[in-house]
Amino acid sequence: MTGVMRLSFLGTGYLGATYAACFAELGYDVLGYDVDEAKISRLAAGEAPFHEPGLDDLLRRNLAAGRLRFTTSMDEVAGFADVHFICVGTPQRPDGMSADLTYVESVVTALAPRLTRRALIVGKSTVPVGTAAWVEQLVAKHADPGLGIEVAWSPEFLQEGFAVDDVLRPSRIVVGTHSEWAREQLHAAHKGVFDLAATEDRDVPVVVTDFATAELVKVAANAFLATKISFINAMAEVCEVAGGDVTLLARAIGYDRRIGNRFLQAGLGFGGGCLPKDIRAFQARAQELGAGEALRFLHEVDLINMRRRGRALTLAAELLNRPVGPAGADLSGTTIAVLGVTFKPNSDDVRDAPSLAVASALAAAGADVRVYDPQGMPNARQEQPFLTYAPSLTACVTDVSLVVVATEWAEFRNADPVLLGDLVAARLVIDGRNCLDPAQWHRAGWTYRGMGRPPL
Ligand code: UGA
Repeated sequence: MTGVMRLSFLGTGYLGATYAACFAELGYDVLGYDVDEAKISRLAAGEAPFHEPGLDDLLRRNLAAGRLRFTTSMDEVAGFADVHFICVGTPQRPDGMSADLTYVESVVTALAPRLTRRALIVGKSTVPVGTAAWVEQLVAKHADPGLGIEVAWSPEFLQEGFAVDDVLRPSRIVVGTHSEWAREQLHAAHKGVFDLAATEDRDVPVVVTDFATAELVKVAANAFLATKISFINAMAEVCEVAGGDVTLLARAIGYDRRIGNRFLQAGLGFGGGCLPKDIRAFQARAQELGAGEALRFLHEVDLINMRRRGRALTLAAELLNRPVGPAGADLSGTTIAVLGVTFKPNSDDVRDAPSLAVASALAAAGADVRVYDPQGMPNARQEQPFLTYAPSLTACVTDVSLVVVATEWAEFRNADPVLLGDLVAARLVIDGRNCLDPAQWHRAGWTYRGMGRPPL
């Protein structure tokens, strides 16, 4: 191939928009595609439709350099790129378990018949094992058989909040393919990533494998991370009844390098657009394949995770001296500040956010709930319009009966408990992310409750 390789990214959500901007930054000629015209207009104006540190700068720089464009025209995409990356969402179906592949199907069936020269279609979306083989069949059915269009699967591992760095400096590249040509094309499409690594004296491990393994690597990684979080949250449950401190327990077991100290933060549990839905879809697919028993533990992982949200409610009732009856707690007449509505800091994503779920549950129990978040308010307002949205941290906590820290934003971690204490009558705080210094808050006169930590 001569000249700069041309890449398309189909779907411009977190995954596609970040990849498009980063691969343009690496020097490729990039076209991002989406059916959502509003999203494409914002991206074309250099503005990411979600909060991701560093992404707006990359978009603007590469749009200005002419290496990056966005379109809603599949004809343009088909005529443009040598390698097409599928980056569309695979949401949970209404059954609450399995993955919906409608968007994958629609981009593949729109693209394939429009292709007029040899190209590679690469799946990046998180999918049930078996999807790549199905996409290959769709391509065989819809594309001109003489063109030799091929399919490969290369899952992504980016974390919201670190997405730009995760794409430019991936921990590994996994390639599922059964063709040498596809492997070479994918290698060329990642040359920029390897070159950057070489200038920084780093290695990017590459695992070349079959379709099924590549698809499974992604869901296995997310299942492992979810299990690690639920493991420490299960330990938090035990600490709560035994009188232990899960944060010290996590630190102590984490010194063993076989265990490691990352993803051992006990709290309100995992949320977001990936881990919860991925572990459910993985179970559903394993069940279909006759291996349901192998993943039964993931059901428990899910249950432990959801129980943490309930724990926040019980703690609130306890601190506010409201008995918990069979119908739950009656929190009417109380005003509660919930700090954080996003599923984690440095993101404006409120999908399946434990913080927002806790805020809603407190409101459903009768409390007057006031929330504040540095980035997530517009998205939260759309999902939960009945909560009260405060313009600042201090406005949120003023005169409340209880403060719940639900997302560990730096603004909350670093807040001064003495100053905040002056704004409330009863100094009661639930640290839903174990991100505060209990001793410091206690000294400032607060009654402190963490998750899996002794009361102070
Ligand atoms: C997750 C994976 O970490 C990525 O590797 C993967 O690529 C991505 O899903 C995906 O499938 O696209 P992300 O959803 O951005 O990334 O979020 P995480 O950083 O994994 O956090 C997930 C949730 O777990 C958050 O709600 C976070 O607060 C919670 N968490 C994380 C804990 O409760 N404790 C921890 O120790 C770590």
